[in-house]
Amino acid sequence: MLEIRDLHVAYGGIQAVKGISIDVPTGRIVTLIGANGAGKTSTLRAISGLCKNRKGSISWNGKDLTGSDPVAIVKAGIVMSPEGRRIFPHLTVLENLQLGAYSRSDKDGIASDMAWVFDLFPRLSERRAQKGGTLSGGEQQMLAVGRALMSKPALVMLDEPSLGLAPLLVREVFDIIREINDKGMTVLLVEQNAHAALKIAHKAYVLETGRVTLSGTGEELIADERVRAAYLGG
Ligand SMILES: Nc1ncnc2c1ncn2[C@@H]1O[C@H](COP(=O)(O)OP(=O)(O)OP(=O)(O)O)[C@@H](O)[C@H]1O
Ligand SMILES: [Mg+2]
Repeated sequence: MLEIRDLHVAYGGIQAVKGISIDVPTGRIVTLIGANGAGKTSTLRAISGLCKNRKGSISWNGKDLTGSDPVAIVKAGIVMSPEGRRIFPHLTVLENLQLGAYSRSDKDGIASDMAWVFDLFPRLSERRAQKGGTLSGGEQQMLAVGRALMSKPALVMLDEPSLGLAPLLVREVFDIIREINDKGMTVLLVEQNAHAALKIAHKAYVLETGRVTLSGTGEELIADERVRAAYLGG
């Protein structure tokens, strides 16, 4: 279980995250929803060790990760698929995926996970020799998720995996998140697509300007009038 207590993140003098407490139980899908600028990405980046200016505590299966650097956090089994097109543009699809597995030495495991990722994303399989930077936006998004999976994380954090995807593919991505979770990975999901995220989430938090304002099961939040009005289009 990932336990975040009273997390604060600041950029210069600006507080982006103002005391968030979140639990991500092992084996579950937990989602963070909230408007633009609510602090979702900052929260994931803080967990990844990428935000230097953070306060509060982060523990993972009882181990304190609060002061850990990004490499130690990946080693502990926590990996993020970043928002947007953060892949290596000059490397091929295959090379991008291989880099995701850089911290692993189990050759057979890497090969079978590569096959699994190509199975999840046939589009990447067809384009394995293509340079990352020449993929379409949606394909790059898939590659970012695939690369995160290649490290075989215990906890995978997905920052807006459905961003910029056509409706049919959006549905597919949510099916894939379920599949990832079925394979035993714990998932912390950030999404603008609140309805689809709440539908697959065991637990959900609403973030507003750096604070958690509501939490509950996905079902509870889908039924909540305040969530319906603000995030589900009434
Ligand atoms: N590197 C940075 N320097 C200064 N301010 C930042 C930086 N990164 C984020 N912020 C600010 O922190 C706040 C939270 O940003 P964050 O990216 O966490 O929001 P978000 O919930 O992920 O939003 P979105 O849905 O638009 O991705 C915003 O007001 C943003 O402008
Ligand atoms: Mg964001």
